[in-house]
Amino acid sequence: MQLKNKVAFITGAGAGIGQAISLLFALEGAAVTLFDINQTYLDETAKIIHGFGTDFLSICGSVTSSSDISSAIQATEQAFGGLDILIANAGVAMRGSVVDMSEADWNRVLDINLGGVFRVSKYGIPCLLKRGGGSIINLASTQSFRGYPGWAGYAASKGAIVALTRQVAMEYSKQRIRCNAIAPGAVDTPMNAGVFGSAPDPAAERQKWADATPLGRLGIGEDIARAALYLASDDSSWVTGTCMVVDGGQLAG
Ligand SMILES: NC(=O)c1ccc[n+]([C@@H]2O[C@H](COP(=O)([O-])OP(=O)(O)OC[C@H]3O[C@@H](n4cnc5c(N)ncnc54)[C@H](O)[C@@H]3O)[C@@H](O)[C@H]2O)c1
Repeated sequence: MQLKNKVAFITGAGAGIGQAISLLFALEGAAVTLFDINQTYLDETAKIIHGFGTDFLSICGSVTSSSDISSAIQATEQAFGGLDILIANAGVAMRGSVVDMSEADWNRVLDINLGGVFRVSKYGIPCLLKRGGGSIINLASTQSFRGYPGWAGYAASKGAIVALTRQVAMEYSKQRIRCNAIAPGAVDTPMNAGVFGSAPDPAAERQKWADATPLGRLGIGEDIARAALYLASDDSSWVTGTCMVVDGGQLAG
């Protein structure tokens, strides 16, 4: 019960990595607010957590909306008496090189992936300050550090998340708010099911990604959730401003 008496706000909590983090944090004793744009995904995650018997809220909204984020954070404080952990996880994968992608797609991927991280910190940090500190975890990517042709907007958003993470860490270290990022490699989630599905042979594409990972398999949500648990808990009390790479060895290879 590493997160007993802690309260966590998690975006993109309905599926994939966000769902895995939500389930692990609930099992570790945290009260969690599940925030997602997809009500069906939210209901699936809520059903599992309901079975654990722990406190949770389920709120449908978009990370692109300041009012959705701020009212969900307010509801979290009201329901659980405070907020300790922010997980800015919601994101979308959009293909396109600089020339190919439309300006509308560029704006959209930046608004969801980077704007979502900004809004979670903007509206969540005042609550963490009231508790005398807290932990913020932002989802970056191996694409924050390495170029893969055809992902210009996504990579730009993920690189900026690492810079914003450092920035928030420096701005709030004196107030005992830690801010770190996690850079996952290829994880088996609905996001990547979509990426594989767009290839001519989805099964072969999936296998290709697994083979390109030195540890020989795709990640699972729990691989990332375990890193998030470390960064959220007091085990990482001297860790801030960093980005933890959890990628099966992809960047080292
Ligand atoms: N899966 C990977 O291989 C991988 C690798 C590196 C980084 N990441 C990052 O990890 C995070 C989670 O990825 P995933 O693979 O679990 O994605 P996913 O698509 O499987 O799940 C994302 C969740 O976010 C929700 N969401 C999407 N747009 C939203 C919005 N505007 N407002 C609120 N919720 C929204 C979706 O409904 C979904 O439940 C993302 O930021 C992604 O970029 C994933």
